[in-house]
Amino acid sequence: MARNLTIKSTQKLLSGYEIPILGYGVYQTPKNVAENVTVEALKLGYRHIDSAAAYKNEKEVTAAISKAGLPRSEVFLTTKIPPRANGYDSAKRNIDDSLKQANTDYFDLILIHAPYGGKEGRLGTWKALVEAQKAGKTRSIGVSNFGLHHLDELQSYISSGGGGAIDVGQYEIHPWLARPDIVSWLRRHGAVVQAYSPLVRNTRSEEPVLKELSKKHGKSPAQVLVRWSLQKGFVPLPKSVTPSRIRENCEVFDFELSEGDMGKLETGKYEPCAWDPTVEKD
Ligand SMILES: NC(=O)c1ccc[n+]([C@@H]2O[C@H](COP(=O)([O-])OP(=O)(O)OC[C@H]3O[C@@H](n4cnc5c(N)ncnc54)[C@H](OP(=O)(O)O)[C@@H]3O)[C@@H](O)[C@H]2O)c1
Repeated sequence: MARNLTIKSTQKLLSGYEIPILGYGVYQTPKNVAENVTVEALKLGYRHIDSAAAYKNEKEVTAAISKAGLPRSEVFLTTKIPPRANGYDSAKRNIDDSLKQANTDYFDLILIHAPYGGKEGRLGTWKALVEAQKAGKTRSIGVSNFGLHHLDELQSYISSGGGGAIDVGQYEIHPWLARPDIVSWLRRHGAVVQAYSPLVRNTRSEEPVLKELSKKHGKSPAQVLVRWSLQKGFVPLPKSVTPSRIRENCEVFDFELSEGDMGKLETGKYEPCAWDPTVEKD
């Protein structure tokens, strides 16, 4: 399966829509460069932008779509409800604010950025997302950074009449944090798994295993990591503001990691490089 992947490949969501398998992440992409670097990414063939209200660049990255000469419908655009804004009324307001900021009629995906705000906050936000989906404000919905206990809570709300379906789960995932338990939960429920910080924020390029595989395939450590993610069936979201790296991170469809290579990257470690709200108790 992995052998035939291209930058145009997609995975099918429960909503019926398709999600391109490689996303372009824009966290910590400053406003003043966001439009230009996103145009660069779109010109290279990326068709999926992972933004969030918290990144404060929804306007710029969406403007890049038309600047790159593409219709809105050609690009899969994600935003997220801010981590501390969970709750029905607040989420509704935030959805409308994001649509306004981005100057678009709809998002392809809106995620709950983090499980903060207690049960009432989480389920209130979910209710607002389900309504937004019915109203055409977003095509698909999902969660990010939910622990297994948050996922179970949400699933029982959905099954007992709350409605909607978890189209996507977005998590920090790379060889030093493969999250097999959460990935298996999501797949059991039909959700597509997005991998954030897929490059481990460039903190692992000196790892012997990456150096070895990099040399073997004539690819950079970053390319090995993106390829690992794709072959695991994830949707990686590498971020870069550097044109040469934006290109590098999508030139990953001309080589394949062997089963042995993939095995070498099974570290069994739990070493987040970003925040980890999955462990939030409440
Ligand atoms: N849902 C969430 O809570 C959450 C959390 C974190 C991230 N995300 C999403 O996931 C995206 C990616 O995650 P991330 O930004 O944390 O980390 P990342 O993509 O793993 O790493 C980004 C860092 O790696 C550098 N880099 C990029 N390409 C490189 C290459 N080819 N070689 C060497 N270094 C390279 C970038 O530098 P330059 O930019 O300077 O080139 C930047 O410092 C975010 O932008 C965001 O969309 C979501």
